[in-house]
Amino acid sequence: MAATLFIKANNRPAEHSVSVRMYDTFLKSYKEAHPDDPVMQVNLFQEQLPYLGDTMITGNYKFANGLALTPKEQAEQTSVRKHLEQFLTADKVVIAFPLWNLTVPAVLHTYLDYLHQPRKTFQYTAEGLVGLLTAKKVALLNARGGVYGDLEELAVNFVKKHLQVFGIRDITTIVIEGHNQYPDRSRAIIAEGLRNTDRAAKMF
Ligand SMILES: Cc1cc2nc3c(=O)[nH]c(=O)nc-3n(C[C@H](O)[C@H](O)[C@H](O)COP(=O)(O)O)c2cc1C
Repeated sequence: MAATLFIKANNRPAEHSVSVRMYDTFLKSYKEAHPDDPVMQVNLFQEQLPYLGDTMITGNYKFANGLALTPKEQAEQTSVRKHLEQFLTADKVVIAFPLWNLTVPAVLHTYLDYLHQPRKTFQYTAEGLVGLLTAKKVALLNARGGVYGDLEELAVNFVKKHLQVFGIRDITTIVIEGHNQYPDRSRAIIAEGLRNTDRAAKMF
């Protein structure tokens, strides 16, 4: 049994969103293939996620060092710790997100900010940062309207970079791309991508 966390970083309806359809497809196939695995779901747009800033940075420091927090710092830490602990609890994590304006939705950036906690997800050593979540397995589900070269792409690469800092190496990536760039092939591109998503969920 593997506790599996599903993170959705898109609040558009499924009929208008390829990444939400990827999320729904993966979730359904995953549950069918792994009926005993406990599943948790987070819809990032339904959470009120405060941004990383002075209050959160100071709160992170105070929390980690057992110091008294102001009510505002405490309120932000409640949100940070809830999401951090849930992420740590999961054996497997699935993250679905679109490419918007060259990168990830701001809520996903904010969520990733919450996970950067020394001694929880990574550690400073004389050799540099060492990730602590080496046993975790992640699937990334991304939709992007254009076709991008691997290096110029800033959403999947952005998320992967964060996960690598946390020591996560087992990353499955499913991308549906080019459905806006090639409107004549759009339906076929999406249909094939969703079949890939279904297959990946069964093996995850
Ligand atoms: C606000 C917005 C910004 C977008 N920015 C880009 C972009 O920078 N590059 C690109 O190739 N497509 C872009 N697109 C197209 C999306 O990547 C495409 O619609 C994809 O399917 C998004 O995932 P979704 O369908 O789950 O929303 C953008 C779409 C929206 C709505």
